[in-house]
Amino acid sequence: MLQKLDDMLKDFRERAATTDTGAHLSELKAEFLGKKGKLNDVLKSLKDAAPEERKTLGARANELKNRIQEGFDARMKELELAEINLRLLKDRVDVTLTPSLRDEGLTDAGYHPVTLVQREIEDIFLSMGFAILDGPHIEDDYHNFEALNIPKDHPARDMQDTFWFADMHHLLRTHTSTIQVRGMEAHQPPFRFVGPGKVFRNEALDASHEAVFHQLEGMMVGRNISVANLIYFMKTLLSEIFRRDVEVRLRPGFFPFVEPGFELDINCLICGGSGCSVCKQSGWVELLPCGMVHPNVLRYGGIDPDEFNGFAFGLGLDRLVMMRYHIDDIRHLHSRKLAFSRQFRAY
Ligand code: PHE
Repeated sequence: MLQKLDDMLKDFRERAATTDTGAHLSELKAEFLGKKGKLNDVLKSLKDAAPEERKTLGARANELKNRIQEGFDARMKELELAEINLRLLKDRVDVTLTPSLRDEGLTDAGYHPVTLVQREIEDIFLSMGFAILDGPHIEDDYHNFEALNIPKDHPARDMQDTFWFADMHHLLRTHTSTIQVRGMEAHQPPFRFVGPGKVFRNEALDASHEAVFHQLEGMMVGRNISVANLIYFMKTLLSEIFRRDVEVRLRPGFFPFVEPGFELDINCLICGGSGCSVCKQSGWVELLPCGMVHPNVLRYGGIDPDEFNGFAFGLGLDRLVMMRYHIDDIRHLHSRKLAFSRQFRAY
C-alpha cells in the first residue's frame, strides 16, 4: 500500500510536467485528489487495514496530498507564465499602422516633401561644417522678439501676425530665428549652425500663405566675417539645391536683427533671366532674406560684438518644396490627402 502511494506521487509528477494548459493540470489534480480521485480510493480501503498500519498509511496519504498540491501549484505558475508570454507575442499591435491605411493598401507611404527637402538641405550644411540645432515651438517674448532686437513697442512686431497665448507672454514661434538666440546662448564663437522647423503665423490663407509653414535659418559667427562669406555660402547652397550654377544678387532689406540686411535673389531658372511669368519679367526670383548679425543681437546672445561678427539667413522651406516639385498651392502641403502624399513615395 505504501508503495502504491509513492507510485502515485511519481505518476502525478511525471504527468504534470507534460501538461500544456492550466485546464489540463486542474483535470489531472482532480484525478488524484478529487472526491472520486485515486487518493480517496486508497483512503477508503484504509478501513480494512490494521490500526497500526492505518496510522502510518494515513500520515503518508496526508503527506502525498500536500506534495501533489505543491506540485500542482508550481506547475500552474509555470503554465501561467508561458501563457502570458505567448499572449504578449501574439497580441503585438503595430501602433504605426491604422486599420484604415492598411485597408487602403497604403503600408509603404513616403516621406512628406518638406521632410525630403529639409533633410537634403541639412546634408548640404553638414557637408559645409554647420551643426543642426533644434528649438521649441512654444516660445517666450524674449527669444522670439526681444533678443532679436525687436523691443515691445517696435512696429516690426506687426510684420509677423503672432499667435499669442492668453498670458500675452508665450507664443507659437513666428520664425526659426529663435533657434539662433538659443544657439548663441549655448555656444561660444566661432560657430556655424542651422535650425530648421515649423513656424506659425496668424495669416489669411491663400495659395502662397499658410498659418503653419517651415523655415530653415542659420548663422555663422566668428572673427572678420564679411558679406563675401555670406554670398559664398548662399551661392554654394543654392547651386547644390538646384544642381546647377546660380547667379545671386543682393538688394537692401529690413530686418531688425541684421545690419545691413538683404533680400537675396537668384536668376530665374525657368527663363534663364530673359523674363517670364514666374519672375514677373524681371529675370530674378526673391528667395532668401539675410544679413550681417546686428551687434545688439550678439550682445543679447552673450557675444562681444567688438570681437566677433557674423551673418544670418532664413530659407522658406515650403517655397523651395513648391519650386522643386512644381506644387502650385501651399495648402496641399497640409491637406492630409493621401492622394497628395502618395506621389512622393518614389523619392
Ligand atoms: N526671421 C526672418 C523671418 O522669418 C528671416 C530672416 C532670417 C531674415 C535671418 C534675415 C536673417 O522673416
